[in-house]
Amino acid sequence: MSATHVTHLRCEYLVDPLGIDERAPRLSWALASDRRGARQLAYRVRVASTPEQLARGGADRWDSGRVTSDQTTHVVYRGAPLGARDACHWDVEVWDETGAAVRSAPARWSMGLLSPGDWTARWIAADPEIVQRDPEAIASTLQDCGTPAVFRKNFAVSAGVRRATLYASARGVFELTLGGRRVGEDLFAPEWTDYDKRIHFRTYDVTPLVRPGANTLGATLGDGWWSGFVGWQEHRGRYGSLENSLLVQLEVELDTGERLLVGTDASWLCATGPILSSDFMMGEVFDARRVARDWLPVREVAPPNAALVAQRSEPVRVTETLAPVSRHELRPGVFVYDLGQNISGFVRLRLRGVPAGTHLTLRHAERLNPDGTLYVENLRRAKATDVYIAAGAPEESYQPHFTFHGFQYVELSGFPGTPPDDLVTGCVVHSATPPAGEFECSHADVNRLWRNGVWSQRDNFLSVPTDCPQRDERLGWMGDAQVFLRTATCNMDVAAFFTKWMIDVEDAQTTEGIFPDIAPRLREDIHWTGVGDLGGAAGWADAGVIVPWTIWRVYGDVRIVERHWRAMTAWLDYLERTNPGGLRTRDLHNNYGDWLCIPTDTSFGTHSPMKNFLATAYWADDAAKMATMARALGREEDATRFRAMFERVRGAFQREFLREDGRLTVETQTAYLLALAFDLLPANVRGRAAERLVANIKSLDWHLSTGFIGISHLNPTLTRNGHADVAYRLLVQDTFPSWLYPIKHGATTIWERWNGWTHQDGFFNPAMNSFNHYSLGSVGEWLFRHVAGIELDPEVPGFRRFRLQPFVGRELTFARARYRTMHGEIASEWHREGETLTWRFQVPPNTGARVFIPSVDGPPVVSDGLEIAGRADGFAFAEAEPGRYTVHSTMRLPEC
Ligand code: BGC
Repeated sequence: MSATHVTHLRCEYLVDPLGIDERAPRLSWALASDRRGARQLAYRVRVASTPEQLARGGADRWDSGRVTSDQTTHVVYRGAPLGARDACHWDVEVWDETGAAVRSAPARWSMGLLSPGDWTARWIAADPEIVQRDPEAIASTLQDCGTPAVFRKNFAVSAGVRRATLYASARGVFELTLGGRRVGEDLFAPEWTDYDKRIHFRTYDVTPLVRPGANTLGATLGDGWWSGFVGWQEHRGRYGSLENSLLVQLEVELDTGERLLVGTDASWLCATGPILSSDFMMGEVFDARRVARDWLPVREVAPPNAALVAQRSEPVRVTETLAPVSRHELRPGVFVYDLGQNISGFVRLRLRGVPAGTHLTLRHAERLNPDGTLYVENLRRAKATDVYIAAGAPEESYQPHFTFHGFQYVELSGFPGTPPDDLVTGCVVHSATPPAGEFECSHADVNRLWRNGVWSQRDNFLSVPTDCPQRDERLGWMGDAQVFLRTATCNMDVAAFFTKWMIDVEDAQTTEGIFPDIAPRLREDIHWTGVGDLGGAAGWADAGVIVPWTIWRVYGDVRIVERHWRAMTAWLDYLERTNPGGLRTRDLHNNYGDWLCIPTDTSFGTHSPMKNFLATAYWADDAAKMATMARALGREEDATRFRAMFERVRGAFQREFLREDGRLTVETQTAYLLALAFDLLPANVRGRAAERLVANIKSLDWHLSTGFIGISHLNPTLTRNGHADVAYRLLVQDTFPSWLYPIKHGATTIWERWNGWTHQDGFFNPAMNSFNHYSLGSVGEWLFRHVAGIELDPEVPGFRRFRLQPFVGRELTFARARYRTMHGEIASEWHREGETLTWRFQVPPNTGARVFIPSVDGPPVVSDGLEIAGRADGFAFAEAEPGRYTVHSTMRLPEC
């Protein structure tokens, strides 16, 4: 019997966050033990202002006392009101079902600056003279990426340092240094928000970097999303300004008890430095010979008319480095490296003894042309080119500062001689969301498919969930995000990431209640190019409801639902106002439909019966989700209203789209999938509808034809409707179009379109052909939910209770998954020999699962102590308390 441990202490989903601005933060922990039945009977949270107090058992901020409760997640802090800068050291004591009391290791959080009055620093910008007088510097214009400014402030520290905290924000993106050492490892801070509404500040503990005596605080300020190129826009300065500005406040507590405050103001100095230009899309030019000199005073500028808020999600970081798997010399002096993996990030260069002034040029691409050159046409206007000009030092190391690229291949030119093996390293850059799930099975290509989905997630979850990391787009497309979200939760812990992004979504909502198609929204009123009106599209804007819904269901988070309730209601009000008849056919805006389905229709703003079908189905599902969430929130009136809305829309849907013989008037795979997944059909026709769906798939010789919208529903819906065999058949299909076709042709990420590259036609039209778009990879959730069988309980959110129900297919002989929930790790692993099954699974402490063991009537189930409560549809079911189990059964493989 193993003892209980209390692990994984988190505050607002984050481990030891600094500088939060949530005044009633939620605390979570998990129990670890493989003892059967392990659970929590009571807890006691202590929060103290110093670690010493906490160690002594003091809890001057909050002592919850012993609370008889099994709650381990989202325990709301109810102590003394928290003020700016407050340090909070906390732990939790748990009484388990054996009566033993166990105490966790300490954790901490701190409060940031909470109101404008807490900031004494002033916003500063560089004097434009630093660029004008510098013959190599580039002046920033609507088309040209300008030379970033560096900033500096010297200050003296008269005594030993007890604690030093640095708060920083910017219009632009910063890199900070103290005494020449980089502050933190975060990239591209402060990250992307709707800068007209809110701007992040970041908090760093810089105690080890501040020394008694002379110190220098430095900053470099890049353009980022604020003033650089964003999306397919041809003009920079999307927020109405090309001027970057900075706000830094360093607060030092000295041993003497004195406090020292160093804030940006007119006494700071600025100059140009080694970066000549740097832009997300275009790349960076860095001349290592240049040093900042002839410093000029900065200018104080007006503060933004937007709230300064703490970033509440994991920062963007380099999370992994990759050595190239090959290099070949394309022509003399031009080398092409293959990283073996399509990533988002950049290359780190390591040079030894390269002559000063040597220009090294790095170009990036996802694929190669048949002649071995880079295929860059699909990057559109993104130049994705970095240039490093060597200083001539014995050792030099360089990585770009304010740019990233989507690439697998790098072309290097300008290197004198043969490059040494360690010259080029690929750096993987994205929001550092913690890994949550792992999947593996007996089919190598399916494993690659799962990994490709994880890679596309990593490559695209960069501050916001983007569509793609390589071309001039990289926007927070809502449709893509919502279809992939459930898969994303299986791969990584994305709770904090989506909590932050949902704020961007609400910030982008119009006063009429229209949710956007992309978040953060781009202002379309300045120098707009191309498709506009980016809001209100069915399947895209509906993410405004689907995101809070999913975060609530997966993480048990009620607060995200409460916080966005008004916004979600406004959206449903808008749909109802616009479409009084119950069919969603009006104001469909860009109306993307089942984007990139086969045959493809990529027209904008057009109408078709399928598009009306899709829009109405999403409305009905929004209403159904709202009704369920309202009930969970105790909003009974809302629950009644939205249930009635669901019934009304469902009725209109059936009248319009359901024939008497049970067939739909629109006969695409996605139409059947949405009708079944969203419960839009009368019970007596569901079976027939599922059969029509299967007939459609069969008529395409067992191929899929769904686009972004249908795809996430395809395998789960087939499985839930008795056709797991068909789902498996689609899973392992490897001829075009299928999930495995790209894998047969070297894909290391999910492609934007089924026909991104085909035997027959080669590359599709580069105007829209990304090789790193996660939407079509949303089959990942099915691998966890139905192959490994780790599924949410229909009634209980957050995996506090869950289901374990693997659907075993003849295409696999084993599958295993581990999945870290808020409550600890669920594991499921099955092996099949013929029709004899061995299944091992793990139910974390303080949870419970209803398990469904694949089995036929007759031969007994060896159930490892589980009491079989019944049998239905090829499964024996039982209730499992926490613990590890191994069961054996005889099952029947489905026929296809
Ligand atoms: C993006 C998508 C997006 C779509 C909207 C494309 O340009 O890359 O992923 O959802 O537009 O139709």
